[in-house]
Amino acid sequence: MLPTTQNSLQYLDLEQKGAMHVTDNEYSKTYDLGTTNYVTAAHDDKINVFTAWFDAINSLSQTEHFQLSIPFNKVGKKEYMKENHFPLERSGGNEIRQELNDLIASKYDDGKNNYRIGRYVTIGTKQSERRRAMAKLESSQGAFTTEMDKIGVYMHELDGLERLKLMSSILRPGKLKPKSFPPFRDRTQDWIAPQQMDFESVYLHLDDTIGQLLYVEDFPYELSDSFLKDICEMGVEGVFTLHASPYTFAESTKKVKNQKTNVGMALLPQQKRASSEGYSQEFVSPDLKEAWEDLDEQSQYMRKTGSKQFESSMLLYIHASNREALIDSLDKVNEVQEKHSVRFEPLRYLQEQGLVSTLPLGKNFLEGIKNFTRGLITPNLAINIPWTSVELQHKHGKYFGINLLSKNIISIDRRGLTLQNSNGWIIGVSGSGKSVTCKYNILTDYYQNSDDEFIILDPESEYVGIGQKLGAQVVKVAPKSKTHINVLELPQYVEEMDEEDDPVAIKSDLLSAMFSNLLRNGLSEIQETIVDEVTTQTFEQYSAPTLTDWYGVLGDRVQAAQVSSKVDSEVEIEASNLWAKLALYVTGSYDIFAHETNVNLDNRMVIYDVKQLIKGKMKKFGYMAIIDQIQNRVIDARRRGVKIWVYADEVQTVVAPASPPILREMFADMWARLRKYGATVTGISQNINLILATPEGESMFFNSEYYVILRQKGMALKTIAERFELTKQLQQYLKKEEKGAGLVVAGDTIVPFNNPIPKQTLLFDLVNTDAQKKEAS
Ligand SMILES: Nc1ncnc2c1ncn2[C@@H]1O[C@H](COP(=O)(O)OP(=O)(O)O)[C@@H](O)[C@H]1O
Ligand SMILES: [Mg+2]
Repeated sequence: MLPTTQNSLQYLDLEQKGAMHVTDNEYSKTYDLGTTNYVTAAHDDKINVFTAWFDAINSLSQTEHFQLSIPFNKVGKKEYMKENHFPLERSGGNEIRQELNDLIASKYDDGKNNYRIGRYVTIGTKQSERRRAMAKLESSQGAFTTEMDKIGVYMHELDGLERLKLMSSILRPGKLKPKSFPPFRDRTQDWIAPQQMDFESVYLHLDDTIGQLLYVEDFPYELSDSFLKDICEMGVEGVFTLHASPYTFAESTKKVKNQKTNVGMALLPQQKRASSEGYSQEFVSPDLKEAWEDLDEQSQYMRKTGSKQFESSMLLYIHASNREALIDSLDKVNEVQEKHSVRFEPLRYLQEQGLVSTLPLGKNFLEGIKNFTRGLITPNLAINIPWTSVELQHKHGKYFGINLLSKNIISIDRRGLTLQNSNGWIIGVSGSGKSVTCKYNILTDYYQNSDDEFIILDPESEYVGIGQKLGAQVVKVAPKSKTHINVLELPQYVEEMDEEDDPVAIKSDLLSAMFSNLLRNGLSEIQETIVDEVTTQTFEQYSAPTLTDWYGVLGDRVQAAQVSSKVDSEVEIEASNLWAKLALYVTGSYDIFAHETNVNLDNRMVIYDVKQLIKGKMKKFGYMAIIDQIQNRVIDARRRGVKIWVYADEVQTVVAPASPPILREMFADMWARLRKYGATVTGISQNINLILATPEGESMFFNSEYYVILRQKGMALKTIAERFELTKQLQQYLKKEEKGAGLVVAGDTIVPFNNPIPKQTLLFDLVNTDAQKKEAS
């Protein structure tokens, strides 16, 4: 029978939920392995990853089949731009969006990698009935997942449509994938089969692509864990496949005895010996090579470690758009095979079997055909660690620069979709590019999400320039400033506050805290009670009171006491004292918080220029009022469904040991509370040791999931290297002079990055601090 293209796709049925009936008595499911950091992990973490991967593979039993599929494809420019571009909008600001798009496009054109690497495991099982197969698959998935959980790898079971898409991406690379699962009675094969499939002796043609199926004929004892990484980074397109069916223990032992297999990978998972950083050598014990040749010892090894033996094949499918390009690609394969002393051979007259074995069906169609499989033990398989790269590419993320390891772009989603806690930090020595990074972050959110709102705490008057250009409300918080902020303002939607937050009580606490810091001897207990009473009374009397109103209520009380000759009571003496002392802050030159707000705090971007605040005696008072304002705004924003980004530059001015404890506490409290209300705070600091020197700073720092770490020196570098368990390799990126480059951390992922912003662009004008500092002065 002449095979139709669909018949080449040899499986019986794919269910919408994802289970596949492969042959009469074989069933399978496919899982997306997800990611974990292996390449840049510290030595012990690498061993942990290897061990878990080893144990997962080793958990499979002899009725099962293991297939690892690693497709690597270049992302087309169209798709790349579609994923990363800033959509133009009618409302203006398109010059900046266009510049950002040009920047992103230029990264693609620079010949950067932009390869997408997938990691899939398909587990097949031989069972006479579907029901038993499903039960078996479920239990092996459980065992596998348990191991993967240990290293933070979250496996995701593919449903039918996802499996079709995956097969489609292999069979029809770059073509449209099915958008929905085929209706009942349609053969799923019909939805993914190429129009044309031709097989030559050592080539195959799928529609307009040409490809070759190769298998690994031989590989050395010393196969390195960088072998698969090098395959993925050849800069060609294709799929690497590993098939393995466990033998029973009895079979294994017999095989080992009868047949001289040249397996040799010898890292016992339990063997956590120290060794230098880098790949492979740490996983190889040349001493054992000899022992391996002694088959008795090999079976002993298996008995001791519980390692299994598998009937295995390693396949490599390479494809290209024309013969010439394919030859080029095969040259690259050649380089890798020489580097690793691995021998690839084309599958002669078996291109079709190779191709179906490459599809993630969970079956090796080369099994039983002599010479194409060989007996391998678990470590030989597990050395092919699938986490060959670390990428930071969130779905719906936004462009953040280039990943200096993979040369792929970095795109990060801080909106809480991917990161559980989106609070973050930008740290680095002075001049390393913190403020530029911060402004870049602000701008990209500003132009990507027109609903997002921004609050900036600016202790150096550095954001005034960008603020003017974006029409921000700049609030200059300084003595004698004409700006007024009503410190008694409540959130517009008080009912939006969490239950335990009583708005009037919060105000009363705020005033107590503020006053006790203003007054040299603080507040007495009696005065605290007075503040509380007056606050309650003020809110009863006025619907939207100001501090002036509050002061009036206190004044009335003092007068009333005088009239009714209660003046001598201790309480009233204290009230009268308080009244006298507060005059400066209500009617004097520090009256900035005493009147109705006269700036537009509803503006999309509010910049608190606190330069003159941080040195003077208003510091605590002023910051407390600002913190309170920010919290109000965030509470309202939750009601409006709006995301607020708060950026606090030079945050050590607030949380360092020299800063008053009450202020540090309030700030840390805000940090946590804002997150609760769905806002995101970013702290910016040049001195991480100062931040970590206070409990508040430390808790703020480590309760974050996002860090941009720019150039570091001395103690700070040491602290960071320790806290983030940075390898020597990663530490190097923090020593470079380049501005706005270093490491970016999102959740558990750390990658080195840079993001040079081209001069002579509007974007650069907006973010460049030097120019703005000049402008401001
Ligand atoms: N990503 C970048 N691309 C281009 N120039 C940068 C970048 N980051 C920083 N610079 C340059 O370095 C200067 C200092 O950066 P800045 O953000 O003010 O440092 P910091 O806030 O850490 O003291 C900027 O004015 C700008 O000229
Ligand atoms: Mg700065």
